[in-house]
Amino acid sequence: MTARIIDGTDIAAGLSQAVADAVKHVTEDHRIEPGLAVVLVGDNPASEIYVRSKTAKTAAVNMRSLFYRLPVAVPEDELLEQIERLNQDATVHGILVQLPLPPQIDSRKVIEAIIPLKDVDGFHPLTAGLLSTGLPGIVPCTPLACIMLAKKVHGSLAGLEAVVIGRSNIVGKPLAQLLLMENATVTIAHSKTRDLPEVCRRGDIVFAAVGRAEMVRGDWIKPGATVIDVGINRVSAGQGKTKIVGDVAYTQVAEIAGAITPVPGGVGPMTIACLMLNTLKAACMQNGLPPPNVGA
Ligand code: GUN
Repeated sequence: MTARIIDGTDIAAGLSQAVADAVKHVTEDHRIEPGLAVVLVGDNPASEIYVRSKTAKTAAVNMRSLFYRLPVAVPEDELLEQIERLNQDATVHGILVQLPLPPQIDSRKVIEAIIPLKDVDGFHPLTAGLLSTGLPGIVPCTPLACIMLAKKVHGSLAGLEAVVIGRSNIVGKPLAQLLLMENATVTIAHSKTRDLPEVCRRGDIVFAAVGRAEMVRGDWIKPGATVIDVGINRVSAGQGKTKIVGDVAYTQVAEIAGAITPVPGGVGPMTIACLMLNTLKAACMQNGLPPPNVGA
């Protein structure tokens, strides 16, 4: 079997178009221009690339894009002051501080400094609490992207066995919550899981979010299962060059799976489109408007 490729770039383009149209309506009908502020500390090359994609996409969907670069040695309180200015600025609806942050800064403090209404990453503990209790709020971008991609294949996820590899606050845990809300049967596997390959083989859908290059092998996958690869790992491509691979050994898994997301071109572009959706949603929430009917 050769898996169907889930084209994240194409699906993200559709979602971005729907967001761009909805932004136009909000701007024309309510005179609200949704705005996203992105803060980058230092000059981590990977972060630079991600931030550039996010700011470019913000402008492409008709939203206001603000970008703040702070020096790598910036004291923590200066970053917190910058966040407070953005919290107070009514023209800014979403605030994203790119992670990782340099060691003098406590990421947790930074995440908690962003007011939950503007928390478009969905990393604030209050946002996580809303999600885990099934209350309406912002849903973290990468887990939301994973769910949307899985639903493109399966329609409903109800009753399916879903295996999530990874238990981070950013991906694994919120993804498991969303899968439960979709009525999937959920297993969260992690570094201490006994016989991980056997646990994975249970999955009708496997989500790989471990951050280890090509860890998930072909014989870990039930024939015909759907595989969603969240990993972004830079590895050597020989001759001093590098390439990006996922957490899944793509070539061998694609022989067994029924559907698979490529890396790049799978979850990555969809995550950015979900960030745009979250910013629009945040702008609506802050202005007493109903949530946009996009991406449901
Ligand atoms: N660094 C890598 N991914 C992300 C993300 O989704 N949000 C933020 N803020 N930083 C990141």
